[in-house]
Amino acid sequence: MTQPTANATNQPKTHSKTTFETHTFNHTATELDSFAPRILNWFDNNGRHDLPWQQHQTDTPNPYIVWLSEVMLQQTQVTTVIPYFQRFMTSFPTVQDLAKAEWDRIAEHWAGMGYYARARNLHKGAKQLVEIIEKTDDYPQTVEDWEAIAGVGRSTAGAIVAMGLHGYGVICDGNVKRVITRWAGIDDDIMKAATTKDLWALAARLTPIDAPIQESGHYAQAMMDMGATLCTRRHPSCEVCPISADCIAHAQGREMDYPVKAKKKPKPSKFSNALVIINPKNDILWLQRPDSGIWGGLWVLPLQFMQKTQGKTVLSSADEDAAFESENTLAEQIIANWMADNGLNARSLSHSLLDDAPIKHSLTHFHWYLQPQGLHITAVQAQALTQLLEKADINMTWLAADTAKATLGLPKAMLKVLDVVG
Ligand code: ADE
Repeated sequence: MTQPTANATNQPKTHSKTTFETHTFNHTATELDSFAPRILNWFDNNGRHDLPWQQHQTDTPNPYIVWLSEVMLQQTQVTTVIPYFQRFMTSFPTVQDLAKAEWDRIAEHWAGMGYYARARNLHKGAKQLVEIIEKTDDYPQTVEDWEAIAGVGRSTAGAIVAMGLHGYGVICDGNVKRVITRWAGIDDDIMKAATTKDLWALAARLTPIDAPIQESGHYAQAMMDMGATLCTRRHPSCEVCPISADCIAHAQGREMDYPVKAKKKPKPSKFSNALVIINPKNDILWLQRPDSGIWGGLWVLPLQFMQKTQGKTVLSSADEDAAFESENTLAEQIIANWMADNGLNARSLSHSLLDDAPIKHSLTHFHWYLQPQGLHITAVQAQALTQLLEKADINMTWLAADTAKATLGLPKAMLKVLDVVG
């Protein structure tokens, strides 16, 4: 089968009716209509045109490249993504290559970028895409169909349609929300559903329809570049901005007051020991975590969730205690019971600072404190533990720190633990 190419004919002829929930807009139709041309003109001279995944400048864009890069860019900065993207493209040049790759190989390519659910979704998404391509001989063509792919939200789907298919795709990610809340003077909480609806409706109204081929992709990239490089959170460059003449925040001198976001509750904290169980050959025990949950499918040290770290007392509620205990996997429960039965206690890996300040790792919904704990065991004990874990069908391996680093695609927090082990 030939590689499918993008179909650029899926633009709607008219905008769907634009209804706004809460906000009254003061801009004239002329100002609304001239928004995109001004942005596009700015983009020609000031936008980024040399990013390795850019497809907006090609006649036959490759949706695979755009999908892959957009998923990577969801929570990671451009400069970090570039080398990862290049390695992915070298190893998995087509969506079929990615779909048939072993998960461990993908995890190894992703290692260090964080938010690993994205990597799992990428693998799942590649399989979904291959199935669709086998049935239809092409990639999904609409925003709705892209949204059905694992890990693709509404804005990512819009970006893929605009940049990967040159169709009508609306984007409204964090950067774009900042640009349009400032320009339109939307001072309602952007976390509220009604405001979100208005923001999307306005973003849709501002996105060019019936755009000449390639312009949709240019506009999507231009809006992202505006948010990332000009209309920045702390230092917007209003003096060179193409839309400052009718920007409400600018007229009010209140750029920094937008977007309005209700203060988030502070993130909760979780605590766990990271057990470095070492056999006489200096190999360490590694477990592959179940597919769902934290670090799904990745190889990590056995963890023991607990209420508090050694040396750092933190109070938690009974509910939290129960939640922490339930975080332990079957393998971790087997290890904990085995240690208790054999009277084995792991010891804090001594490091002058770590006793009081364990490794802190921040994830989307919580801060995670990891306390490295070392346990040297005999060959007989290692064999007994291996047998117990194998009997329970646990994916496990004994590997020296250097080999594990080179071959398992360990998450960053595990590399920090290994640094402590030395
Ligand atoms: N962030 C999300 N998508 C992006 C893109 N295409 N270019 C730069 N930053 C982005």
